[in-house]
Amino acid sequence: MFISFEGIDGSGKGTQAELFLKYLEQRKLPYIYVREPGGTAVGEMIRELLLQSHCTSISPKAELLLFLASRAQLVSQVISPALSEHKIVVADRFIDSSVAYQGAGRKIGLQEVERLNDFATDGLKPDLTFYIDITVETSMKRKKASDRIESEGYEFLRTVRDAYLDLARRYHNRIVIVDGEKTVEEIHKQIVEIFERRGERSR
Ligand code: TYD
Repeated sequence: MFISFEGIDGSGKGTQAELFLKYLEQRKLPYIYVREPGGTAVGEMIRELLLQSHCTSISPKAELLLFLASRAQLVSQVISPALSEHKIVVADRFIDSSVAYQGAGRKIGLQEVERLNDFATDGLKPDLTFYIDITVETSMKRKKASDRIESEGYEFLRTVRDAYLDLARRYHNRIVIVDGEKTVEEIHKQIVEIFERRGERSR
C-alpha cells in the first residue's frame, strides 16, 4: 500500500506522517518513509537547489522539472522496490504537490503537470492520500517562511489550497480531506481509522 500526506505549508502533515509511522511500528507492519523533494542522494541535492532561499532565479518550468527529476529517481530507486517487497510506503508529499504548487501556484496548468507526473512516475499513484486542509490564515500564522517556496505570499497559497481541494473532489476515491484545524490527536485518530477501514476493504 502506498500512502501520501499532502497539505500547504504549516498543515502539520509532517507531524501526522511521523505519528502514523509510530502506529505502523506498533502494529509491526513493514514500512518505509520517504520525503519529497529528496529521499535519494540525487534527490537530496535537488532539494537543496530548490529550497535554498538565495536561489531566486529558477523559472517555473525548471522548478517543476527538478521536482519531477527527484520524484522519478525516488520511484525507481526506492518506492517501486519497496512496494514489490509488500512494504507500506509512506510519502511526505508526492504527485499532488506538483499539481497544486507548480500546476496551479506557478500557473503551469494542472493537466500539463498531471501528464508530466505520469511520465516521471510511470503512472504510479498512491492508493490513499491524506490531504490535511488548513486555511491560508492558519498557514501564515504557523509558518515563518523559511524556504524559497514558502516565502511566496497569501495569494500563492490560496491558489495552492484551492487546487488541493479541487484534486480532492476529482479523485475522491484516493484523496481524503482531513480537517487540519483539529487537534493533533484527533487528526491522528481519524487517519488511523481511515487506514484501517481501507485495509479491511482491500483484504
Ligand atoms: P516540505 O519539505 O514538505 O516543507 P514543509 O515541511 O513546509 O511541508 O516541502 C518544501 C516545499 O516544496 C514546500 O513549500 C512545497 C514545495 N513543493 C513543491 O512546490 N512541489 C512539489 O512537487 C513538492 C514535492 C514540494
